[in-house]
Amino acid sequence: MSKINRRDVLRNGAAVLAASSLPISMVELAFGADSDQNFTFAYISDSHITQIKGNEFVRNWDRGLIRAVAETNLLDPKPDFVFYGGDIAQLGKPEEIDHGLEILSALRGDVHYVMGEHDYYVDLGEYWRKQLGPDHYSFDHKGVHFVVLNSILTHEKWMHQKWQSGMDRMKQMARLDNPDGQPFMVGEAQREWLRNDLKKISKETPIVVLSHSPLQKIFKSWNFWTDDAEEVQALLKPFDKVTVLYGHVHQIQTNQIGNISFHAAMATAWPWPYPSTYTQKASYLPKLTVEMNRADPFFERDATGWQFIDVHTGRADVSYLLPDNKNRTVAYSEKAGHPVDTGSRKTDDRSPPQKHF
Ligand SMILES: [Fe+2]
Ligand SMILES: [Fe+2]
Repeated sequence: MSKINRRDVLRNGAAVLAASSLPISMVELAFGADSDQNFTFAYISDSHITQIKGNEFVRNWDRGLIRAVAETNLLDPKPDFVFYGGDIAQLGKPEEIDHGLEILSALRGDVHYVMGEHDYYVDLGEYWRKQLGPDHYSFDHKGVHFVVLNSILTHEKWMHQKWQSGMDRMKQMARLDNPDGQPFMVGEAQREWLRNDLKKISKETPIVVLSHSPLQKIFKSWNFWTDDAEEVQALLKPFDKVTVLYGHVHQIQTNQIGNISFHAAMATAWPWPYPSTYTQKASYLPKLTVEMNRADPFFERDATGWQFIDVHTGRADVSYLLPDNKNRTVAYSEKAGHPVDTGSRKTDDRSPPQKHF
């Protein structure tokens, strides 16, 4: 097993939040280090389970997810729930989704899911929904309002054009730098749903939004992008504490836009390169307001991992559990007004490359 350094995460990652019996508007009063209602949750994402044929699957991707599940089950304090950030499957096949869900079924406790584009474009999410239910929903947990959005929709015209097959459409959407691809969006119907959902929430209530693609525009050619991001951000603007957590980009990204803090999740499958190496096409790359935290691409499982999230301030402190690199935590700083990389949770040097995968 890797030196995941669970103790460090646990020591520093403990606890939080408000009394579930309180009216939501009183949540702020209930926050505090001593609250017995404090909670954490774990976040696993982007496993890209890939079928080779029959019951043969790409082993490396399987192992990344199996390891994340095993180590999540060992967390102490126990996370209140696990969030899965999308792209269970590589090509959205029922066999891939089922295999991924079988591995995830070993998790103890509730798991909430968001849909990724790799789960969606072969059959427009039919099988995923059959197995997991609605693709957008909200729930309250100990004073925090959680909202799950399907952010990987696109224009109807593109979705329903005459594809040779659903798999053809899936493969088009999976390609990078594809001139025939389309940007993702949340879409008007879901934005209307969100507008209504938020009507009952007081502005002091911490809100955590979970999407697959970033609800900000980072890099269009790779769909690190949601076309109606600004419209979604506008709906979240009235609230004091908003955090958006997303998968899809397979790397640590942190940003702050107005009142909204953004955190990406690591993948359990593979890392994508970092912005300076995306391509030579720099035109779409905005200046990020918070500097990147780069991992080491020369380590076999570097830049893959999973997350342990502490919500005790009403913001998300994200501890990245990195099998072949130092664990890191990015936490909101009131002083800076944005999330800050607080560095490694480990005191020893980085583990040598692991050979288990
Ligand atoms: Fe992904
Ligand atoms: Fe994705």
